[in-house]
Amino acid sequence: MQRDRHLYRITGGQPLRGSVTVGGAKNAVTKQLVASLLTTEPSVLTNVPRIVEVEIVLHMLTELGAAVEWLDPTTVRVQTAEITNASLSELYSGVNRIPILMMGPLLHRVGESSIPLPGGCRIGKRPIDFHLAGLRQMGAEVTELPRSVTVKALKLEGTHVTLPFPSVGATENILLAAVLAKGTTVIHNAAVEPDVLDTVHFLQQMGALVSVEVDRTIVVEGVEKLRGARHRPINDRIEAASFAAAAVATDGRVEVCGARQEHLVTFLNHLRKLGGEFQTTEHGILFYRERKLTAEHVETGVHPGFMTDWQQPLVVLLTQAHGASVIHETIYEDRFGYTDQLNQMGANIALSTECLGGRDCRFASKDFEHSAIVMGATPLRGMPLEIPDLRAGFAYILAALVASGTSEITGTRYLERGYEDPVGKLRSIGAQVETVPAPDPTD
Ligand code: EPZ
Repeated sequence: MQRDRHLYRITGGQPLRGSVTVGGAKNAVTKQLVASLLTTEPSVLTNVPRIVEVEIVLHMLTELGAAVEWLDPTTVRVQTAEITNASLSELYSGVNRIPILMMGPLLHRVGESSIPLPGGCRIGKRPIDFHLAGLRQMGAEVTELPRSVTVKALKLEGTHVTLPFPSVGATENILLAAVLAKGTTVIHNAAVEPDVLDTVHFLQQMGALVSVEVDRTIVVEGVEKLRGARHRPINDRIEAASFAAAAVATDGRVEVCGARQEHLVTFLNHLRKLGGEFQTTEHGILFYRERKLTAEHVETGVHPGFMTDWQQPLVVLLTQAHGASVIHETIYEDRFGYTDQLNQMGANIALSTECLGGRDCRFASKDFEHSAIVMGATPLRGMPLEIPDLRAGFAYILAALVASGTSEITGTRYLERGYEDPVGKLRSIGAQVETVPAPDPTD
């Protein structure tokens, strides 16, 4: 993991006002870059966010043999005429969740591959058993080593795969393996997040035959060959919700250009119920506070439920709402660790191992602190904050913006993995954010 380029010094207490534009969705673009490996022809993606995660994925593709060219600041052309290297270096071990998705495309291109074990944010165990089981079912020989996974297959074959849980990554992995497989693959209990569907759209433009059917079923008829395509990925609905929460939490008024109602329906319902309001505009959605904020009950879930990645800014917003809010996290077992530092700022958040306020989830009786009770409203005080992961990163920015005084935030490298120009965007809507060069640990 890289070190921080700089830390942020944020002085809170100002309502945010103005307009901000969200970029392309990290979790769609990075998968589409992987999909570009399925053809020897060039593909062009527009609306690509300038985030560190995209830089990392482009480095990975280059290591495999891709030629990468930025045609303008947000348009990238990628062509892998030849796979010059089917093994991604172990340097990428633990870096993110992307290498595991390259196995299908590499099997189609060269019949084998070695991929470092994935990493990603520390929010739970995040195993890859569904991915590997799916590939095995399609005929791949999979060998798990301590730091990597190797796969071999002469030809992947279509089959029926039933996912134990609608995993985004496993759905995408099987999809990328199935588009060029022999015969038809049916993915039952598939994830149907907008980012997954956007990647389906890109694949369809490349020549794939994919249909999304009722009951989370995705049917893929394998084709012989795919071609390059040009695609504009959807905008980032996590970035959109983050700025929406910032507008309401600071009692400001922010137009989030590029935000799309159909990708935010569940978020908008909860925002309204807790006292926020929105209006769709020509360019996006305007967010503001309608009344005194009041407690809300939210359970995260797979699409079309409330995204787990919206949970962290929401919790900060709920620290400013009157009454006892309950949040039940059902996607990741360990995604509330960041609340410790919010409590030190003055929040009153208690964690519980129970499935609070809703149905039992996969984590019932398993001793994971996956429910939270937020008692509000509590004033927050600025203090030094250390970001533990990407989405908690924006929550800390938001907490610092709501707080009195100044917060010095380190761990900004996590935030910059997935948020495009966060400082520039926040300043443009009136946030007081200074960047300070991070101290060199070797000094
Ligand atoms: C994707 O992670 C996103 N990451 C996450 O965003 C997002 O939170 C998540 O989907 C849910 O929407 C990327 O797209 C790169 P999953 P992914 O497989 O695909 C369990 C962000 O901040 N599971 O849907 O890794 C898993 O442990 C990130 O942008 C298995 O048990 O998520 C989890 O409990 C954070 N075995 C659940 O399924 C498996 O083989 C859902 O995970 C795979 C998953």
